[in-house]
Amino acid sequence: MKKRSRRRSFGAGILMGGALLLAGSGYAVVNAETTPSPEPIAAEGSVEQIQVGRQLFLEGCSSCHGLEGQGIEADNATGGNGGPSLIGVGEAAVDFQVSTGRMPLAVPEAQAARKPPTYSQAEIDAMAAYIATLGPGPANPTEEELDLEDANIAEGGEIFRTNCTQCHNFAGSGGALTNGQYAPSLMDATPEQIWQALVTGPQQMPVFSNETITPEEKKNLIAYIESLKVEPNNGGLALGRLGPVTEGLFLWTAGLLSLIAVAIWIGAKVR
Ligand code: HEC
Ligand code: HEC
Repeated sequence: MKKRSRRRSFGAGILMGGALLLAGSGYAVVNAETTPSPEPIAAEGSVEQIQVGRQLFLEGCSSCHGLEGQGIEADNATGGNGGPSLIGVGEAAVDFQVSTGRMPLAVPEAQAARKPPTYSQAEIDAMAAYIATLGPGPANPTEEELDLEDANIAEGGEIFRTNCTQCHNFAGSGGALTNGQYAPSLMDATPEQIWQALVTGPQQMPVFSNETITPEEKKNLIAYIESLKVEPNNGGLALGRLGPVTEGLFLWTAGLLSLIAVAIWIGAKVR
């Protein structure tokens, strides 16, 4: 009698162990998909990649930016869409605009808003490689330049307060500008996108070249903005921040499963 119930609780233990493992690995898969992994960036695109990029550009972008990326004047009479020349904007501008979902622009408005990207990173890389062949422009940061390991966050905060708060405010949560335009919150921007925004200066944002803010200072600045993201909010619920939510979900699932495991174990023991 005793033997049997022990075997049963042992079986339940295995079952629960398996369930926990599954929940854990399910979480790992979800997490791997939501945290963008820094992809190796080719300094120069291969011929094939550039061809793919040109094709994507012709299909998705040339109606506004011209068949050769030379730009098209907006035609107010016919309502025809226009777009600026992309000659010399560099791979960083393409990566920034397309990875933040600003491009392709759906409807011309005061400001292209950030939205989920419509292209994969490989497609973005291809288009960026193609645009880079039209003329020299700002490049994407290297992995080394984005290595924030020994960045000086305090110094980054100094740079942030001097150069960014007048538009993006002290918390980096953004603010209104003139003509219905705004400086967006910085909380969704990845380190790479922050770098790209700095070197390309989208819309009303000034360009912060490597002469104005050195690569070392950029690193400190990015580390500071990253630290703003993880700092706990003082008061109020921070809804919509993915990190804590998925983590909470994991803890909740794991916690619930372990409670069930304990319940089964106790149940088996009593019998
Ligand atoms: C409906 C028209 C339209 C389409 C389609 C479009 N764009 Fe744009 N694009 C614009 C306009 C207008 C601007 C300038 C306004 C702005 O920056 O928000 C712009 C700006 C840009 C910039 C910034 C240029 C700079 O000087 O920094 C890049 C890069 C860009 N587009 C790339 C693309 C790519 C790549 C595609 C295709 C995937 C695309 N665009 C599709 C209209 C368009
Ligand atoms: C004069 C105002 C102004 C200043 C100063 C400024 N920005 Fe911006 N920034 C903007 C505007 C406007 C945009 C949005 C452009 C667009 O939508 O095309 C922007 C966009 C960004 C983005 C993209 C955010 C996203 O999620 O898509 C980042 C990152 C950024 N800025 C970082 C900075 C940093 C860091 C500094 C300080 C070194 C800075 N900005 C200084 C006006 C400014």
